[in-house]
Amino acid sequence: TILTLDFGSQVTHLITRRLRELNVYSEMLPCTTKLSELKFKPKGIILSGGPYSVYEKDAPHVDPAFFDLDVPILGICYGLQELAWRLSKDNVIAGVEREFGHADLKADRHNSPVDRLFEGLAEDAMQVWMSHGDKLSQLPPGFCTIATTQNSPYAGIAHETKPIFGIQFHPEVTHTLRGKDLLKNFAVNICGAEQNWKMSKFIDQEITRIRKLVGDKGQVIGAVSGGVDSTVAARLMKEAIGDRFHAVLVDQGVMRLNEAKQVKETLGEHLGINLTVVDASERFLAGLKDVVDPEKKRKFIGNTFIDVFEEEALKIEKAAENTPTAGKVEWFLQGTLYPDVIESISFKGPSSTIKTHHNVGGLPARMMNGQGLKLIEPLRELFKDEVRALGRELGINEELVMRHPFPGPGIAIRILGDVTPERVEIARKADYIFISMIKEAGIYNNISQAYAALDTNRAIGVMGDKRQEGYIIILRAVVTTDFMTAEAYKFDMDLLMAISRRIVNEVDGVSCVTYNTTSKPPATIEMQ
Ligand code: XMP
Repeated sequence: TILTLDFGSQVTHLITRRLRELNVYSEMLPCTTKLSELKFKPKGIILSGGPYSVYEKDAPHVDPAFFDLDVPILGICYGLQELAWRLSKDNVIAGVEREFGHADLKADRHNSPVDRLFEGLAEDAMQVWMSHGDKLSQLPPGFCTIATTQNSPYAGIAHETKPIFGIQFHPEVTHTLRGKDLLKNFAVNICGAEQNWKMSKFIDQEITRIRKLVGDKGQVIGAVSGGVDSTVAARLMKEAIGDRFHAVLVDQGVMRLNEAKQVKETLGEHLGINLTVVDASERFLAGLKDVVDPEKKRKFIGNTFIDVFEEEALKIEKAAENTPTAGKVEWFLQGTLYPDVIESISFKGPSSTIKTHHNVGGLPARMMNGQGLKLIEPLRELFKDEVRALGRELGINEELVMRHPFPGPGIAIRILGDVTPERVEIARKADYIFISMIKEAGIYNNISQAYAALDTNRAIGVMGDKRQEGYIIILRAVVTTDFMTAEAYKFDMDLLMAISRRIVNEVDGVSCVTYNTTSKPPATIEMQ
């Protein structure tokens, strides 16, 4: 195991992710963890980057006992400064110019073990990504320089006799072109970590952790939507505790066409998960009547969802009363992924006011207060592609694994303006045709997210020589890796026109179809 001590940089999780890609098992713990609290002996330690300066009054510092453990240590950015600070307190100065972005790095060779970190790397210029304010002003005692950039004479340092290394740049981000090779040099060649970690090991570890956490009495509940994250989380839970896990699907009346039925088949019948489908569509549609502000739609749907969910939780608890595993519903499962965690952290910043998307932050808060529920988030450290790999490993079919994301408030935020049963029906049918035709054309997996929205305005058409006023459908399809920025998908025009023709011909009340070509930013993926 490689231990990463997290000093709070936005990219720390990428370190463990890169190590997983190298099939090296790693654990990430807060930087305040004491050596005496560790339950395992790591083969190596990485000190991550962080937003502080080591001289700040409240700056976090690593337990010095880790330095006596005699295992290799790699300090990254703040981690490098922390090494220098620990090993001699005078060597860090605030950088004259803060350094952000790309830099060209060259290795210094010594024909000694200090060369191992950059072995095979940076003979010529290696492109690295910097993001720091402080930098070293001189070498700590016993260290030598192993890499330099124009602005950082100590971009890489190593202890002359002990396996302690420090680098000023971030090897974990993709902008550092051979960063993964550097992490491999450290973890595999220097620490001797084995490359035998597989997704199936993650499953075993999570199952063990979940069982320990929830004990052998009581019920666990989780909301499912038919999306890949909640399905994978639910499947893992089912493996861990069987029928003590209860998945609940709340049909809020604004799901896609036939979706509730499909989820019932996949989760209930195919994956054998204990599933309750609550048809609350009338309650939701009644409450959505005349609500046109998208944020009000989100709030109403979010709150009503919790009401329905709480009612179900009580029923589940009651139904289990006379069974051998009777007990309270104490745990609440969420399929939160790592990017959701980052986004909900950055929620404190200015970006928070754009949309209150993340039911990650909003939804459990009220539930936790009301019921004393505790969160269980088995996917919290994973990225979407890793969750997909995990889903395949758990036997979830490819179609579900590759599904586009679908927002919690569903079609309600894709119907601009009034949400009436008639308009839901139209948006749903148009969306179904759009998605089916994308699938038939074999391009579904090339698009990250696609849907049909319904405009507030109407357009005049001419049908059978008659003037006809009808709805306007807006198609949206985007390509993105992180959903923070996105480009419109470049459709073949013949296909786009064929989609448009079918929608106008087959969906009553539609007279016009448009395609939204705006990127994010300035637009967003959902139109509201
Ligand atoms: P935007 O529209 O902000 O969307 O570019 C980025 C991603 O977030 C999804 N999204 C939501 N998901 N509840 C959700 O669960 C919401 O209210 C919501 N709004 C946007 C969107 O579908 C895209 O994947």
